[in-house]
Amino acid sequence: MTLKRKRLPKPVVATTNNKTIRKKKTHQFSQALISKFHVLNKEKERLKQQPQNSEVIERLNEIEKTIEHMGGLDAYQKASLLGQDKRRGGDSSKWFIKQLLSLKKPTEFENDDNYIAGKPSNSKTYSLLDIGAVSGSNYSKEGKWIKAKAIDLNPQDSLVEKADFFEYPIPAEKYQILCLSLVINFVGDNKKRGIMIARANKFLVKNGLLFIVLPNPCVNNSRYCTDEHFKKILDYLGFTLVTSHVSRKLVYYLFRKIKDINIQKIQKAKPKFPKVLLNDGVSRNNFCVVI
Ligand SMILES: C[S@@+](CC[C@H](N)C(=O)[O-])C[C@H]1O[C@@H](n2cnc3c(N)ncnc32)[C@H](O)[C@@H]1O
Repeated sequence: MTLKRKRLPKPVVATTNNKTIRKKKTHQFSQALISKFHVLNKEKERLKQQPQNSEVIERLNEIEKTIEHMGGLDAYQKASLLGQDKRRGGDSSKWFIKQLLSLKKPTEFENDDNYIAGKPSNSKTYSLLDIGAVSGSNYSKEGKWIKAKAIDLNPQDSLVEKADFFEYPIPAEKYQILCLSLVINFVGDNKKRGIMIARANKFLVKNGLLFIVLPNPCVNNSRYCTDEHFKKILDYLGFTLVTSHVSRKLVYYLFRKIKDINIQKIQKAKPKFPKVLLNDGVSRNNFCVVI
């Protein structure tokens, strides 16, 4: 008679082996690389706005060299892809899809195909533009009902079109959904951040959805931006908040476009939301959106 070997129960206490240490170190390294990249990118944008004297030019060259030494945008994006699981337990599209599926269409919008809520009826598809996507497979699981197009300054796979959103032509046929996940904070210039959101309005159909993800400290620990302030900016740019979610590291917003805006007029006018100190404190950051 052969005796069945009893399996030993797994220890309740977590053990630390070389693999977990390595994983932790890789994660710490990619987080450090992402932070440094953001700091340098912001300084670069700020210096570009100043008179180009020899000191400024020298510092700009230094920054370029450091970024290059770090592996450039390519290394930043790889670190960003690597960080996805750790940062948020999967990519941010999961939260968005969950919200989208739970949305109900109010009766007054029943015949409006562009009032995006739940799955589209009659095997139709939603059109979605994923800006700063890095990877083109964020919405592949929903391929039957979401026709997604992904763009990025530096695509990491062939499913993403290489394009700069600021130069991307406003389409004749507008999108029903737009995603700006961790992209607004990537843009180093405060004014360009405002323009990015304003352009998002022009790319969307009325009643279409805008999904935004930001690092939590952008709206919860900045001298120049709070959650309330950010929502006011979005309101000014024609959006109303549908729902939001705050995690330890990230803030997720889902907005609906409720009116069209005139970008030229907004750009020509004195900023309605200039850089104004809202919260002082040495440990705060300088994230800001100007429009
Ligand atoms: C932190 S990654 C975010 C990646 C992904 N969306 C996510 O949520 O993990 C920011 C990406 O935005 C892209 N990006 C920044 N400005 C852009 C622009 N003007 N047009 C297109 N892509 C842009 C960068 O190239 C970078 O890949």
